[in-house]
Amino acid sequence: MTASGSVLLLIWLIGIQLTLCSRHELQSSLVNLLLFSRLDRGTAQRIVAHMYMLPVTAGEILIQQGDSGDAATKLFVVRSGKFEVLERRKDVMFKVNTKERGDVFGEISLMYDCPRSATVAATTDASVWVLEPGCDVIVEGGLGDKFYVIKEGEAQVLQGGKEVNRLFRSDFFGEQALLQDEPRRATVRAITPLVCLTLDRRTFVAVLGPLQDIMAKEKSPEVVNQRMAKLKPQGSAAHRRPGAEVLIKFTGPQRIIVCDGHMDEVVELRRGGAKMTDDQRDVDKKLVLVEGELLGEGAFSRVCRVTEESTGRVFALKRMAKSAALQCPDHVFCEQHITRNIAHPFCLRQYASFKDNFHLYMLFDLMPGGDLMDVLVAEAKVIKYPIADKNSLRKGCLAPKMKMWQGMEEHMSRFYVASIVLALEYLHDNGIAFRDLKPENVLIDGQGYVKLGDFGFAKQMDAGGRTYTFCGTPGYVAPENVLGRGYNHSVDWWTLGVLMYVVLTARQPFTSPKTQDPMEVMRRIVDDRWPIKYPPYMSDEARDLISKLLERKPVKRIGMMQGRARDIKAHPWFAGFDWDALAARRMDPPRKPKETDSSKRKAELAEAHRAEPREPANASPQEMAEWDRVFKDF
Ligand SMILES: *[C@@H]1O[C@H](CO)[C@@H](O)[C@H](O)[C@H]1NC(C)=O
Repeated sequence: MTASGSVLLLIWLIGIQLTLCSRHELQSSLVNLLLFSRLDRGTAQRIVAHMYMLPVTAGEILIQQGDSGDAATKLFVVRSGKFEVLERRKDVMFKVNTKERGDVFGEISLMYDCPRSATVAATTDASVWVLEPGCDVIVEGGLGDKFYVIKEGEAQVLQGGKEVNRLFRSDFFGEQALLQDEPRRATVRAITPLVCLTLDRRTFVAVLGPLQDIMAKEKSPEVVNQRMAKLKPQGSAAHRRPGAEVLIKFTGPQRIIVCDGHMDEVVELRRGGAKMTDDQRDVDKKLVLVEGELLGEGAFSRVCRVTEESTGRVFALKRMAKSAALQCPDHVFCEQHITRNIAHPFCLRQYASFKDNFHLYMLFDLMPGGDLMDVLVAEAKVIKYPIADKNSLRKGCLAPKMKMWQGMEEHMSRFYVASIVLALEYLHDNGIAFRDLKPENVLIDGQGYVKLGDFGFAKQMDAGGRTYTFCGTPGYVAPENVLGRGYNHSVDWWTLGVLMYVVLTARQPFTSPKTQDPMEVMRRIVDDRWPIKYPPYMSDEARDLISKLLERKPVKRIGMMQGRARDIKAHPWFAGFDWDALAARRMDPPRKPKETDSSKRKAELAEAHRAEPREPANASPQEMAEWDRVFKDF
């Protein structure tokens, strides 16, 4: 690039710990930040120039839990005054944090591209600095005088509000308006942190003008369509799948919901694996599911047990509100596509997907044993551990003891960790990064074997490809994910290290009872100097494997070297472990699911549900038309 080329950083702030009253102070502090260390002063200056000051009166609510879309694209730095962070849990508001001068809030939903997780209200008169990212880089119909090349990140191209192309590293945009001297033909919107190189009009025309033909080819309909087809694997082929009816029957107040499903899946399920005669095939192609017990409920989805009427087979039915799924339709389509196409004994399978006016549904394996967190809660205990005392010769029961938490026994953890290793190995071999490993997403079947569940964040990667989206769960995310420089399936081996630590110790490696602030946790995750503490009862082998998984440099992490997952399987912690027996489900699970494991959780759930039955809110015809358009291929 020539001297007039410049770097423009559009969004991304994390971990700001500073005191600031003036723009000048804000800027001089920015350059000292962890993630900004590689940026030049000019870039920081431009970020600060994007921020504005906002006075807030006592009692005003700046962020509302559950807000999404445009309401969730702001980040705030406290300039003066005090704020409270409130979280609604089961209809009760809890104060979880306070924010003062120099503190940052609002960053989590920016990084996760998800609705606000808490409410933030001013307790005094106050003022904040505001950064509004997720911004449009260029706007359809606008006038332009810059040409852009993406250095890092991902952007959407929108025409008339509809996504027509997706841009990645090395892609460029903005050339038309400069070459033809006409208004912008499309809007380009950053959907991850986006760093662009820019050229002004004069330099662009002089340097790149002669390359017009090459640039035009890159934007030809063929190239663009190919790219969009790749991004939406369920695309047009799925659209042509013949439809069939799926009925959901409710017991209690008699009610039936009629859904649009797919013929191939309905036929397969009705057959229950058996051959169907041609007559049977034609008679009745409806699938009838009878809804049973509520198994789980999240902010945007709920899971129920259902029985398929013709075969009596039981499944878990996940239901998502279209209004919520609209926040991240890509995640929903990825989950639908990936879970339908994977087949591994330790990965949850999806048997059908269908939809009604308000909801999307996916039919999964029923996992009656709850999840690995239930197991951990049942197994964890407080132990008294003798502390080595150099100044005394006391031994045995006379030695001073310390109370501490212990998770599962190592032999039990080994079975679960090994099962996850096999599942991740399979996913990685198929180019899929799971991206949200944690005990809550490891489900237990009736025999005590596990399956990875919840593929909402899973992503199909191109060979050698990288992805930038920040996702995962705060205590579990890998450093390369936090740093936003692109990552691949390496993040799964890191999160396996966190999970292994959690199941063995009943604690998280980067949080402590005093520090649950997600930003502080993420600073520790990326900070090489922050040491992970291992409890004294942990074996040397376990400690060694965890430390090799929690290696901050992805290239040096176990699982990422030549031997890939084989290196993990060959680690001394697994000495003598029969991998073949496990893969063939010939190994006795160390623990059979107990009714009590999740009974408390289920009782609470049923109680909460009685109090507040969630029914679809009224939607306008426009909203419903939008849902139909976005989810027509579901
Ligand atoms: C994944 O990323 C690591 C390091 O960031 C790299 O060494 C490795 O080659 C990548 N793997 C694939 C399959 O792209």
